[in-house]
Amino acid sequence: MTTGTRESAAVWLGVMIAATTCVAIAAERVEPADAAEPGERLQQLGPGATGPFRARHGMVSTSSHHATLAGLETLRAGGNAFDAAAVVQFVLAVAEPYASGIGGGLFAVAYDAERQQVIAVDGREEAPRAFHPDAFLDDDGQVIPFRERATGGNAVGVPGTLAATAYMLEAQGTLTLAEALQPAIRLARQGFIVTEPFARNAQAHWDRLEHYPASTQLFGRGGGAPLQAGDRFRNADLARTLELIAEHGIAVFYEGELAEDIVAAVQDDPHRPGVLADDDLANYRPVRREPVSVSYRGYAVYGMNMPTSGGTTLGLMLNLLQASDFADHPFASVDSVHRMVDSQNLAFADRNRYMADADFVDVPVADLLDPAYAQQRTEPLDPDRALSTPVDAGQPSGAAPRSSIVPDDGEGLSTTHFSIVDRDRNVVSITSTIEQHFGSAMVVPGRGFLLNNELTDFNANARDADGNLVPNAPEGGRRPRRTALGDAADSEGGKRPRSSMSPTLVLRDGEPYLALGSPGGSRIIGITLNVLVNVLDHGMDVQAAVNAPRIIARNGPPELETPLHEKHDLVRNLEERGFDVDRINAAGSVQAIRIAPDGWLHGAADPRRHGLVVGY
Ligand code: DON
Repeated sequence: MTTGTRESAAVWLGVMIAATTCVAIAAERVEPADAAEPGERLQQLGPGATGPFRARHGMVSTSSHHATLAGLETLRAGGNAFDAAAVVQFVLAVAEPYASGIGGGLFAVAYDAERQQVIAVDGREEAPRAFHPDAFLDDDGQVIPFRERATGGNAVGVPGTLAATAYMLEAQGTLTLAEALQPAIRLARQGFIVTEPFARNAQAHWDRLEHYPASTQLFGRGGGAPLQAGDRFRNADLARTLELIAEHGIAVFYEGELAEDIVAAVQDDPHRPGVLADDDLANYRPVRREPVSVSYRGYAVYGMNMPTSGGTTLGLMLNLLQASDFADHPFASVDSVHRMVDSQNLAFADRNRYMADADFVDVPVADLLDPAYAQQRTEPLDPDRALSTPVDAGQPSGAAPRSSIVPDDGEGLSTTHFSIVDRDRNVVSITSTIEQHFGSAMVVPGRGFLLNNELTDFNANARDADGNLVPNAPEGGRRPRRTALGDAADSEGGKRPRSSMSPTLVLRDGEPYLALGSPGGSRIIGITLNVLVNVLDHGMDVQAAVNAPRIIARNGPPELETPLHEKHDLVRNLEERGFDVDRINAAGSVQAIRIAPDGWLHGAADPRRHGLVVGY
């Protein structure tokens, strides 16, 4: 690393943490291709963008400074947002191996500037052909507790991240896959310093990792102890795995020696074996979907379609807010919070009842997003009284009647969101996951990456009170991809578990305006809603919108993020209206970029996870 690089890294961070109206930075002075070293320098100084931050040409916001800097370097070297997205995703696989990676899945919503088109790519994991509705029940028919069923081969879905990343790169990027992998390979070899959250999470999941020697070897420091903050984390196995992919393409992962090792790890798992087979991997395809969209106060808000509930539920929440007097009330006022809570609760009731993989079950997406339906749903609301929960789902016109509310399964912390804008105004918004922190806890021996536990996003209890399969039941088999677009339209595939991931893109007058998304399990939808309305309704700067404490509801009591929960007047007023207010800490990690009409890019990275936004 040169002195120049060191200094420039310090300058960058100094500007970001000190300035309140920061302008573009002399990007020529940064050489983040060596992602490890400038990243470390930033880390020593204390990562975490506190913005506001703006730049003219391109911008990258991720939850890891390694990934952000590698993405920025890609843009500066002439790559487009799709190139940078591939680089970022692969570097995240190294830098946040517990949150996303080639053993997981993703959803992408992107704007292709040349075609002036919003694209949605589903790289979700899918169930093996031999999967079964009772996969998460024990011998007595009882649901296996979450932590148990999330650990091991039975929870592993066919990974989609690599196929989807390669697919987008091929269709929209300019780099080869081998080129896009290089920064990640370098970082995996050089290693980086383990942060406190990385170490804390390794400790928290050590009991799960301890089922697998390959996992404790990768995430331990020898002698049975997990990595500590300040240790150097190197992953030579992952570097070799990524080199294999660079040399042979993704076929080596889906049909070659990596596929063999994945199948062996899952099937031979002594703890909780799964049924993932060779042909499940060989048949996996990323799927282009029609994005969902709603019109909100003159903006067009685009999201991902099924199998994530994210885009549709978010669209319904926006329609419900729009059908109320929400816009008349300032941020954090009792009326504003009340409308936010009721809208989220109503939408969540519908999400839980109707939403799942639309290739396997009928989901009335268009009816749920009809503004007239939102109008009808808001009619019984009392502006001065809490909607009592759980509220029953509505009956959109195209929906087959269904009985009983399906309870949502518990979800933990993991997953990552990144947003990228390039010089041509291509925009990429991707949420990527292996589900839980450390996924299934299984590292593929000798290969350096974790396998997901995404199949636990199916309802563990497959049947409703009448014994019928619920929409989001675990199921095996393969069906035609009836909701797919383009080259995926003729394919068939396994069922994909319902997600909450909500990569979002807002257009204003037909031009991209805002990209955002978040991790946070089933809170993702509400988290994304909060940031959207903070920008679109409350007029906040994008970083202020990300920083602001969040108001979440999932067909239950409102959850107020600290410090909102400490606003005693607000809490008392809500309680007087009949709300039973809960407190939550640090919900989600939003990486967002706003493209102002004057052409400036305004970026935000979430301080909750020490994200970093940079631009040039
Ligand atoms: O697809 C989903 O909705 C979840 N598997 C995402 C998991 C997640 O965000 C964990 N949280 N922080």
